[in-house]
Amino acid sequence: MKRIIVLVSGGGTNLQALIDAEKRGDIRNGSISCVISSKEGVYALERAKNAGIPSRIVPRKNYSTSESYTDALLEVLIEEKADLIILAGFMTILGEKFIKAFENRIINVHPSLIPSFCGEGFYGLRVHEYALERGVKVSGATVHFVNEIADGGPIILQQPVDVLENDTPETLQRRIMEQAEWKILPKATELFCADKIKVKNNRVYIFE
Ligand code: GAR
Repeated sequence: MKRIIVLVSGGGTNLQALIDAEKRGDIRNGSISCVISSKEGVYALERAKNAGIPSRIVPRKNYSTSESYTDALLEVLIEEKADLIILAGFMTILGEKFIKAFENRIINVHPSLIPSFCGEGFYGLRVHEYALERGVKVSGATVHFVNEIADGGPIILQQPVDVLENDTPETLQRRIMEQAEWKILPKATELFCADKIKVKNNRVYIFE
């Protein structure tokens, strides 16, 4: 059974999707053992509490540099014996040291079809604002491993979602969450925990 640590910074709907998937038995080979938040008072912490999952807060604002924050976080994740780290709406860029320590063991969910609308500055609602400005007809979500390039790691799963003519950033965000993120994140999590994912030359191969 793999120990899954979920990193959050906000509402935590993706965390909820993971909790629900574990309860339903869709995640069978891993278990969420701890939730870590970069901010105090976020709703994701309530979700962890309601599910009886221990949580810890490592506030980004208490650290002046990305390096010192990375070191603090790294210590906590080693203490928690993390097998898999999931960034579920975690809004802090991680330092290279962290990524090296957990190579191909950190998963991120991004609300677009990478390589569109991704990289530095593309997060949360802003991703959907850019997609609507550009007038794309299809967007979606991507689950990928995290490497040293922002949103540039090996892609595990992607799910397209139609953009509607009357969409606002909020309606598009919600539809992408419902139809893509909340499905492919738990799916990728179980594939990882069941050792069904291999990475070679920056590409993911899935053995179902
Ligand atoms: C989600 O849409 C997630 O894909 C996005 O933030 C939202 C968090 O929602 N992440 C990024 O933009 C990362 N670049 P949640 O807290 O309700 O899961």
